[in-house]
Amino acid sequence: MKITFADSAKADIVAFIVDEDGGLPEAAKALDKETDGLLSEALSGGRFTGKKDQQALVVLPKGADFRRAVLIGGGKPKKRDARVLEGLGANLVKSNAASGFKTLAIHADSAEDAARIAVGAKLAAYRFDDYFTKLKPDQKPSLTGVSLVVEDVKAAKAAFAPLSAGAEGTILARNLVNMPPNDLYPESFAAKIKELEDLGVEVEVLGEKQMAKLGMHALLGVGQGSARDSQLGIMKWNGGKDGEDPVILVGKGVCFDTGGISLKPGPLMEEMRGDMGGAAAVTGTIRALAERKAKVNVVGLIGLVENMPDGAAQRPGDIVKSASGQTIEIQNTDAEGRLVLCDVLWYAQEHFKPKAIVDLATLTGAIVISLGHHHAGMFTESDDLAEELTKAGFTEGERVWRLPLGPEYDSLLKSKFADMRNIGGRAAGSITAAQFLKRFVKDGVKWAHLDIAGVAWVEGEKVALDVSWASGFGPRLLDRWIADNYEG
Ligand code: BES
Ligand code: MN
Ligand code: ZN
Repeated sequence: MKITFADSAKADIVAFIVDEDGGLPEAAKALDKETDGLLSEALSGGRFTGKKDQQALVVLPKGADFRRAVLIGGGKPKKRDARVLEGLGANLVKSNAASGFKTLAIHADSAEDAARIAVGAKLAAYRFDDYFTKLKPDQKPSLTGVSLVVEDVKAAKAAFAPLSAGAEGTILARNLVNMPPNDLYPESFAAKIKELEDLGVEVEVLGEKQMAKLGMHALLGVGQGSARDSQLGIMKWNGGKDGEDPVILVGKGVCFDTGGISLKPGPLMEEMRGDMGGAAAVTGTIRALAERKAKVNVVGLIGLVENMPDGAAQRPGDIVKSASGQTIEIQNTDAEGRLVLCDVLWYAQEHFKPKAIVDLATLTGAIVISLGHHHAGMFTESDDLAEELTKAGFTEGERVWRLPLGPEYDSLLKSKFADMRNIGGRAAGSITAAQFLKRFVKDGVKWAHLDIAGVAWVEGEKVALDVSWASGFGPRLLDRWIADNYEG
């Protein structure tokens, strides 16, 4: 979708935002007059009151400047925050995408409003249809351009640029999560991150031999039942001062999680194509930072593996030695995410001096039970980091909710045979997973773990801009967090 900004409207469809219980907006008055009051007419008689996202479609007479006009309810102006504005842009795209018309112009009250409406439109225009071969022309969208009509075009463009970069990150994350696991596996994922070099990102990929040298046997154990080689993806965005310590993002990249020998049940196993959602979020964030040339050093590290059962697969009862030297008794091969992350977290601290580390992972089914699909779980001992991430999440509509860590939970990880086991038992599954990770974070390191299992993909009802199975959760949150706390 091409998004543009202009101070006057030229399009097939023109849209006006109407205040709840308000009259026709100023911007619509000229067209109303020209059309003998067709727009005012649309406000009366039916149920249109200007409630948020209500729409009234007006067919304009021959010779009018536009073919259609849309009135969309903007709700009460006081309540028209970033989420509402994004929703308006998204709903307008949704209802006009297959209208048969190509261009849509939306009138906005301010530069900030225009930018938010535009980002909603951009995200709602997302499609993942590369794998359909039989789409008829009328099953494809007709809309190719959205233009925001606003007084201060320059300010609107400036407000949109960073939001658009974040949305590009979301789109990349969605594409990665949506991709089928026969096409997206550790090596092909690694090839995808190489593409970020075009934007100035420094990319390095380690294979199994190199990881073995580093002692990353927790990660390697997860991948050892797969025909695909495991990979460690390293993405460096060096937009800050030379030698300045980086912020580090770590992502779980289990390209497919069968559970391994502790095999998952068949129904819905296909959803585990999304078990690399953390790695997708990290990749999308690096893309966003690079696109907007963020003045900060950030390293993205993604542990890419496939968790498969075969004759070479890891067994329950195996004991592996992690890169940190700590040993882990595998009691359930389906608790593999933490095994991947613990070695990548260790790598982060051995090779860099992180200002902060945030890891993202579709780590536990338990977090879906705790928080459902509207908040990611956040675990950290740093109140500052908790506040930063919570705030960033609110600003961009990718919310996190803090849950506790604590030594009482940690003791559930005791093993008879090794330094720890990889499961904690039935109780507090998301917390014991976080406690496990904490054992691989050195004292004094500012670290947060985000369990995104409930938000990386969502079936069923969701907000209008979240149009595909994969939500692309993460890049907008992390990009905002970095912009507000670590830049300049
Ligand atoms: N990838 C899953 C977690 C998951 C579940 C993500 C549902 C998204 C939706 C993870 O690897 C896993 O299997 N976790 C187990 C841990 C258990 C064996 C301790 C779980 O949550 O059941
Ligand atoms: Mn698993
Ligand atoms: Zn998993």
